[in-house]
This record gives sequence, structure tokens and C-alpha cells, in this order.
Amino acid sequence: MSESANTTRKKRVFSGMQPSGEAHLGNYLGALRRWVGMQDEYDCVWCIVDEHAITAGGNPAEMPKNVFDLAVSFLAVGLDPEKAIIFVQSDVHEHAGLAWLFNAVTPVGDLERMTQYKDKSQHFESIPAGILNYPILQAADILLYKAEGVPVGEDQRQHLELTREIARKFNATYGDTFPITEPLIDKNVGRIMGLDGEAKMSKSLGNTVGILADADRVWERVRTAVTDPQRVRRDDPGRPEVCNVFSLHGFFTDEATRADIDTRCRAGTIGCVDCKRILADNITEAFAPYRERAAYYNANPQEVRRILDEGAEKARVIAGETMDEVRQRMGLVWRTQLKD
Ligand code: TYM
Repeated sequence: MSESANTTRKKRVFSGMQPSGEAHLGNYLGALRRWVGMQDEYDCVWCIVDEHAITAGGNPAEMPKNVFDLAVSFLAVGLDPEKAIIFVQSDVHEHAGLAWLFNAVTPVGDLERMTQYKDKSQHFESIPAGILNYPILQAADILLYKAEGVPVGEDQRQHLELTREIARKFNATYGDTFPITEPLIDKNVGRIMGLDGEAKMSKSLGNTVGILADADRVWERVRTAVTDPQRVRRDDPGRPEVCNVFSLHGFFTDEATRADIDTRCRAGTIGCVDCKRILADNITEAFAPYRERAAYYNANPQEVRRILDEGAEKARVIAGETMDEVRQRMGLVWRTQLKD
């Protein structure tokens, strides 16, 4: 790249999401809405990480629909194939290829320290190696594109630290190849808690609200949300500061209404059901344009296919160049032996 091109080059960002169907509020607030806003300023690569999803087992028969539904969520919220590369991880084989090579520079101890590994491995009697090696594949995703930034939710911070460590280790061992990627985490969001109010919102815990749900489905989900446990009767005084429903209002409800809810909750003059009703209505309204766009893509699956095919084609070019460089650096170029 020429000097002048270099100075005007946009910074590249990469991020990924596991396909467990339609995106949920946590995905949206922690990641997607940020991704949409970055597309003019950055050179963006957005990936549906189906090879990560298999590490948790999962049903092969459901995977194609889950990938498609997440692609529809991506497009519905405004990820734009004209501005960004949007693709499915398993369409670009270099992800798994680079992950294997990164095994050479990743200490097992670092993998065992990962909180997500500790959490997930408890569910298995015989722990699949994929759960341990999961962050290596994540590092490969990011570094294959030499991404300088990764916009994610707070829960991914530790994995990104490991990505930086892998890049440092690779660079030190084989020569300067990869950037030391910056995590781009929105501090105002943090972890979005699930409707159970106990754990982070996550599809596998069944505590989510989907961003493409219609009014009835949003209400069906939001009305189950756990509120202040000390509020038993409608006129008991509540504590908005410990209520997850109130914290979700922070993203969907205007300030004046929130102040009013706060006052009336403390005074016991608004019940939790009414408070949830306002939240459900506001969520439904906020996502109405996305539901409309999703309906379009659901009716035109060939267009989704074309977008993902073209995205994979573009991704393969970049991934191929990085892999050539990495193989060179690691000596996986036996043909050079024949030249003399
Ligand atoms: P995943 O699929 O669990 O989540 C995708 C994105 O949504 C964010 N997120 C949340 N943010 C706030 N509160 C929540 N409750 C919440 N739930 C999800 C996540 O922080 C993430 O940004 N390991 C990754 C996927 C991945 C990846 C990558 C990410 C694979 N390769 C490379 C970045 C770069 C994961 O499981 O995200």
C-alpha cells in the first residue's frame, strides 16, 4: 500500500455473533447498534460465527435456519453490504486454518483461565476441546483480517485480551505480522441482564427478548421479567435501582417518563405490570422499522444468500493474503526448497 493510501486508509474493525437465531436485546445493545454506526467511519467486517456455535453442541438440523435468521437480523438493523463485508465463518476456511496455527503460540493455561471456559465446562462430564480452544478461533477471526478494533459487549473483554496476547506472542516468535487489536466496548451498556434478572441475557438461558418479535411476543416475554423481589403487592414501594425492568427502560424510554416511573415506583403508585407494559410498548415501537425490513428479507431469501455469498468472496481474498503471509513466517512453504 502506498504512503498516501496508507494515511487515508480507514481502520478495520471485525466482529462476530453466534447464530442462535434472531438477535436479542443484549446482542443489539451490546453490539449491533454500535456496528451499524461504525460503517461509514471504519472498514467493517461482520461475521456470523457458526463454527463457534458448534462448540456448544447444538442441533445440526437447526443450524441453517439459525444462520439465516441471524443474517436477517443483521440486515434488518442496518448492517449494509454496500459498506461492510457480511459473511458466514464456515464459508471462509481460513478461520479454522489460522486457529490451528495459533495453537502453536497459545498456552493451555491461558485458555483454562477464561471465565467462559470455566462456566461452560461445568456442564460437561467429558469437556470438548472446542470449548477450551474457542478463544483461539476467535483470535483467528479477528487477526485474519488484521482488525485494529473489535466492537463487542463487556462479556467478550477477556477473550479479546487473549487475542492481543496471541498476536504479541506470534509477532515475537515469527516477526511482526498482526496488530494488537483494541476492544471497543460501550461503557454505557455493560452487560444486559436477562429477564430473569440473574444472568446476562443469553439465548441459551432462555431469558431473552428477540429484536424482531412482534408486539404480542414482546409482551409475552417482558411480562415474565423479574422485578424488585421485595415488591410483593402492587402498592409496595419499589426500588428502581435494583430492578432490571427499570434498567431496560434506560435504553427505550424517554427521560421524563423514566423520572415519573421512578417516583411512582418508590411511592407504590405504579404496579410492575404497568411499568412492564410501557417497556414492552417502547421496545416494540423502537424495533418496528427492523421488523419491516426483516419481513422483506424473509420474503427474499435469495437476496440474503447473494449478500452472504458476495461477503464470503471478499472475505476470502483478505483471509487468503494473511494466510500466505502466516505460512511464510511459520515455514509452511516447503516448495521454496526446490528453488536452488
Ligand atoms: P455472542 O454471539 O455471545 O454475542 C454477540 C455480541 O453481542 C454481545 N452480547 C451482549 N452484550 C451485552 N449484554 C448481553 N447480555 C450480551 N449478549 C451478547 C456480545 O458481547 C457480542 O459482542 N465469542 C463471541 C463471538 C465471536 C466474536 C469473534 C466476537 C466469535 N469470534 C470475533 C468478536 C470478534 C460471542 O459468543 O458473542
